[in-house]
Amino acid sequence: MARLFALLLLFVQASVVLASPLATRASEPDPSLATSVTVAGQTFINKVRRAVTSGIKGLVGFGLIPSNFTESTGDTLGGIGSAIALKLGSFSQQADGTFTGTIVVQPDRGFNVDGTVDYQGRQHQIDFVLSPYYDTSDLSFTQAQQTLQLTYRSTLLYTERAHGVTTGLDAGGVRPAQSDFPDDPLADPEMPIPSKSDDRLTLDLEGLALNADGTFWVSDEYGPYVYRFDSNADLLQTIQPPDAIVPLSGGDVDFTGENDPDTGRAANKGFECLTVDTSTNTLWVMLQTATIQDGGNKKSHARYTRLLAYDISSPNTDRPVLTAEYIVPLPLDSGGDTLGASEISFVSENIFLVLSRDSNGHGGDSTESEYKGIDLIDISAATNIAGSEFDSHKNAVAPKGKLDSSVTPATYTPFVSLINSTELARFGDPSDATLIDAKWESIALTPVGDSQFPNDFFLFTAADNDFLTTDGVSLGRPYNAGVDVDNQFFVFRVTLPTKSS
Ligand SMILES: *[C@@H]1O[C@H](CO)[C@@H](O)[C@H](O)[C@H]1NC(C)=O
Ligand SMILES: *[C@@H]1O[C@H](CO)[C@@H](O)[C@H](O)[C@H]1NC(C)=O
Repeated sequence: MARLFALLLLFVQASVVLASPLATRASEPDPSLATSVTVAGQTFINKVRRAVTSGIKGLVGFGLIPSNFTESTGDTLGGIGSAIALKLGSFSQQADGTFTGTIVVQPDRGFNVDGTVDYQGRQHQIDFVLSPYYDTSDLSFTQAQQTLQLTYRSTLLYTERAHGVTTGLDAGGVRPAQSDFPDDPLADPEMPIPSKSDDRLTLDLEGLALNADGTFWVSDEYGPYVYRFDSNADLLQTIQPPDAIVPLSGGDVDFTGENDPDTGRAANKGFECLTVDTSTNTLWVMLQTATIQDGGNKKSHARYTRLLAYDISSPNTDRPVLTAEYIVPLPLDSGGDTLGASEISFVSENIFLVLSRDSNGHGGDSTESEYKGIDLIDISAATNIAGSEFDSHKNAVAPKGKLDSSVTPATYTPFVSLINSTELARFGDPSDATLIDAKWESIALTPVGDSQFPNDFFLFTAADNDFLTTDGVSLGRPYNAGVDVDNQFFVFRVTLPTKSS
């Protein structure tokens, strides 16, 4: 049977094996093979790298780190596509035409297939060598992995108040807000903790944005909160979203990821998406799907999610304030279920990339994936509902998934597909390791630096493999998840006409 969405197939064997497939490469995609969409009057181009017979558009690099790779703490390296960011200033072109740099990756909360575990928040640095592949001949799966070579370097562990270690255990408890909250911009609101008897901050991390001063923002699912850490990964500050988003049960804050609350973010559908616009010092964060009161307890009602903007001009002295909030209509699958958003990335005023997808693929329940897109959203005509009645949990903006008629949502335009069924279905029956991973959750952009194409960017994305390996270590103990899902990375080349490089 032909398996859809087999990654590789992208790279299935050429009839003629090139002696050195990467030695000679065109420096540019062939423009006649590009596809484009128009958003906000501008043409965004997904550069087709391959012949029309060969499939995926714009893909120029592929790499992986094996599912059983062990990082410096002794744990299996996994979950790393939950969030990625390019280390500032690390990206550069080499004389041989390759590009090198460092990707900072942030796993979510450890191997938790059999329940949540005591996994400390962390980020890893991974060096890469990108040899963009612009030719049309098919590479073997092994050759393909030469296009993005990845080398693990180091791990930084997260701590919170009094330098306490964080955990990933389910948030069954609430630590009260500090007494000087909210007056002191650095004081904590109510914080998610495992239980009354375990007062540690618990994190299910999904977004990451690195700042020039070495601090960094992360977003999580439990709060759902946004946290700022210093360059030693010690907690500085927490952003609590409006009442409409904080999970409430029986009127009380209820951070658990085990069940849905009465209102607020749905369980495990928190702040997946985080990006910073450095030109205006605005932090943008988005829920994976709608809040409970907006239909988030049902996949067929959950498409109207919320995108929020915070002013982070002087976070040490002024608590980041909500300046804008928009409704984003997520795509639906063929059964009418919402395709949740796993990441956003700021492009230019009013325009963002957004990664929406199903959960099928390698490591998912089915390998037959229907939708994985890195798409475009435009909020220029959308209604700003920040500070409106819809910020109260009592006033749904989309009850049972029907958007209030007073609100104009963002526009959503499909852009880069990670799976092209028409093409991939034509290829044979690959071994499991070459199937595309199920859960892609991250975006990082960097200018190509090509003076002929000043608006061309490399778009990196990586998969969250859920730590699935038959040969794993979690908190010092071996485990066997029954399947090996490697940590896969893609690099696309795209033209973003509005983005400054
Ligand atoms: C898949 O790729 C083919 C050939 O490159 C293209 O014609 C087609 O529109 C693509 N399909 C989708 C859904 O993007
Ligand atoms: C991962 O698995 C491969 C293949 O079985 C093996 O060669 C390698 O030593 C393993 N690596 C680790 C870190 O266990």
